[in-house]
Amino acid sequence: QVIRREDYRPPDYRIEHVDLAFELGAEETTVRSRLTLRSDHERSQGIRPLVLHGEELDLRAISLDGEPLPDGAYSLDADSLTLHEPPEAFTLEIETAINPKANTQLSGLYVSNDVFCTQCEAEGFRRITYFLDRPDVMATYRTTLRAERAACPVLLSNGNLVEEGDLEGGRHYAVWEDPFRKPSYLFALVAGDLACNERVVETRSGRPVRLRIFVEHGKEGRTGYAMDVLERSLRWDEERFGLEYDLDLFNVVAVSDFNMGAMENKSLNVFNDKYILADPETATDADYAGIETVVAHEYFHNWTGNRITCRDWFQLSLKEGLTVFRDQEFSSDMRSRPVKRIQDVRRLRAAQFPEDAGPLAHPVRPDSYIEINNFYTATIYEKGAEVIRMLHGLLGEAGFQKGMKLYVERHDGQAVTCDDFVAAMADANGVDLERFKRWYGQAGTPEVQVNGCYDAQRGSYDLTVTQTTRPTPGQETKEPLHIPLAIGLLDGQGRDIPLTLGEGPASDTLVLPLCEERQSFRFEGLPKPAAVSLNRGFSAPITVRAEQSGTERAFLMAHDSDPFVRWEAGQDFATALMLEGSEAWRAGEEPSVDPAFIEATRAILTDSRLEQAFIAEALALPSEDYVAERMEVVNVEAIHAARGALKRALAEALRADFAQLYERLHDSAPYSPDAEAAGRRALRNAALSYLSVFAEAEPQERVRLIEHYRQADNMTDRMAALRLLVDLDLPERQEALDDFENRFGDDALVMDKWFALQAVSDLPDTLERVKALMQHPAFSLERPNKVRALIGSFIAANPLRYHAADGSGYAFHAALTLKLDALNPQVAARLLAPLGRWRRFDAGRQEKMKAELQRILAVPKLSRDVYEIASKALG
Ligand code: ARG
Ligand code: ZN
Repeated sequence: QVIRREDYRPPDYRIEHVDLAFELGAEETTVRSRLTLRSDHERSQGIRPLVLHGEELDLRAISLDGEPLPDGAYSLDADSLTLHEPPEAFTLEIETAINPKANTQLSGLYVSNDVFCTQCEAEGFRRITYFLDRPDVMATYRTTLRAERAACPVLLSNGNLVEEGDLEGGRHYAVWEDPFRKPSYLFALVAGDLACNERVVETRSGRPVRLRIFVEHGKEGRTGYAMDVLERSLRWDEERFGLEYDLDLFNVVAVSDFNMGAMENKSLNVFNDKYILADPETATDADYAGIETVVAHEYFHNWTGNRITCRDWFQLSLKEGLTVFRDQEFSSDMRSRPVKRIQDVRRLRAAQFPEDAGPLAHPVRPDSYIEINNFYTATIYEKGAEVIRMLHGLLGEAGFQKGMKLYVERHDGQAVTCDDFVAAMADANGVDLERFKRWYGQAGTPEVQVNGCYDAQRGSYDLTVTQTTRPTPGQETKEPLHIPLAIGLLDGQGRDIPLTLGEGPASDTLVLPLCEERQSFRFEGLPKPAAVSLNRGFSAPITVRAEQSGTERAFLMAHDSDPFVRWEAGQDFATALMLEGSEAWRAGEEPSVDPAFIEATRAILTDSRLEQAFIAEALALPSEDYVAERMEVVNVEAIHAARGALKRALAEALRADFAQLYERLHDSAPYSPDAEAAGRRALRNAALSYLSVFAEAEPQERVRLIEHYRQADNMTDRMAALRLLVDLDLPERQEALDDFENRFGDDALVMDKWFALQAVSDLPDTLERVKALMQHPAFSLERPNKVRALIGSFIAANPLRYHAADGSGYAFHAALTLKLDALNPQVAARLLAPLGRWRRFDAGRQEKMKAELQRILAVPKLSRDVYEIASKALG
């Protein structure tokens, strides 16, 4: 059941056109499919069978060129329908019945809050009808939907609406035609009673496009921001990439139950409503930013994903890495570029680096999989985007756009590979990217060790750089990669020293082309550098190791011309202090905090030239998980204590600054989600977070916190206070939680926040509370958003309580996995990763974690999804 990249073969048959007719019913939907097929293999060597994929389908009828197919002409099993000797060219008519209501996997056609909707990526179309459900089979589609008019006044599918009308018995129909050939994973339909926000815009060549966002009735007032983002995305793709929208209609539908964030179906994007709905009372600044990212991402897929798609699923990053890069660039152009970069790096390190270091490590272009849904990972998406970003850095914006232009010219309408993409970039720029391509095939995060040495007599500076990548499962030996490492040298005043390599012109930042395991670079005629600035802008997705003193780090925090490195130096400094603090905690000693860190933090805090959002990022200490990654054996209690101690030390030393900042940043203007206002709130709430350290002991700080909650006129501020309150064992905690529930009890998305907050509390009874909350009427195991909010937050964002020494967190996780697997394997598998990190812990925890993995694997009817993750995790 392992699928391998090297086994790829083109399909034996092509489907040219698909004509679908749906008779929609919640418990029974019939699907009639008429396929125009043509054989695509040398038939004189023998006629190959046609093997169509199908899953959980009830076959009602099948005929070929109008004649019912005799029993002997085909065979059927649990996941396929085989025609033994089909003709050269023919039409195949298939009628199947499915039960959307019973579809708790949310793959294929399902019902969410009475709305019919589909999710076909990666392999959901085969749960709708028998088909060649693979991305290199591209066809045009005509789709007829029939449903009860009262229950489903809105009937949508891909492309253009060509016909609609009434039918007998209160039913009606609509016919949609998509002129663009597409793979089955981009098919979609939606039917339900939905409200709609509409805006007509014009593309730059003058084509009017109707943008429509459909949501449940009563929620249309929360679609304004998503609509603005959609319009801005359309504009931006024209201006920056020269890519225009290609149809008269662009539909977006928000549903409450969705396995992932959203889906780029051709002209009918379907969204988790969390990434559409926003207003100040119910959405935080982070929610607004998430909407900006996801709406743009799905829109950008129209070119990078739909017009040009993937040949096979091993090429998933071809569309995902590139599209994440595009959405990151979009947000960077809309907001603060340095702050966006910092946030993206944080995310990469939180989700992708651990993946690369664990049992599920895989290359950006994987070599094998058991269940493709398990490969919608941070590696494919975020590391994939970093690989594209490095190409962008190597070629420059103009060169990159030249490559994009050639890529589109060559491959529009095709299903292609990552190699095809790199070839277009190389050919358009006349460069050789062979070594660079190793990034696609090699898993693991490269570690780059940098040593600098100044020779005062000669005025020369030598940098020696070595790169290594640790073995990952299935890849014992690693090759050196082409790593573009951006560096700078600072003089004693903190100014950049202009640098040259060879004959090139001098510049403040140099990109060193690391291509070998070990390389040296010499710079001549320099004053003695006071500090080296490494991996500026995070020019490559690596970990950098360099001997740096606290003084050097503080110097970089204060002076570096690259904002990313200023932030990074602070994170490095804080990480080093927390590692020391963990050691002290273990030895039962008082931790000491280097005053240089406190002074450097004060300098950033009070530097009025810095963006407020940047200062807020600089004040956010590295997460416990981030520090854990740097430990030989993870000690969750020690890290928690050390992080708490460092926060307290900063709070005590900078208390007056924080208090002043908190007062000064009070904003009486009405809420606006723009980046500047969000930055102001982020900084003020960071100050509040430090001040909350005193809340347990000092009544006036308690009042500040609860008043912050009460007076909040927006969800960002309200959540900021509540996040701090849930860690405090005070009566105010429950008062605020109850108040929140009373206010928002009937708003599903807001209740997700309420669940999530309680799950990440560091109070000792958190697991008990999580279990109790699973009985709450607003909770349901069948709703992915609920599961992720309550259970996902506990498992993935509460290391202290999840890793409780008695193993209670692990036992809860395993039991939950089995329950959830029966309902929704994709979601169950996605939550499993933390259990796979057992190698990082002490012997006692290792045993308990492994035992739970074994307990999961001992269950007979496990899904492929959970089986793959659990078995690989166990090793
Ligand atoms: N292509 C979608 C996106 O990146 C993700 C959908 C994947 N869904 C799944 N069940 N594997 O926006
Ligand atoms: Zn995507």
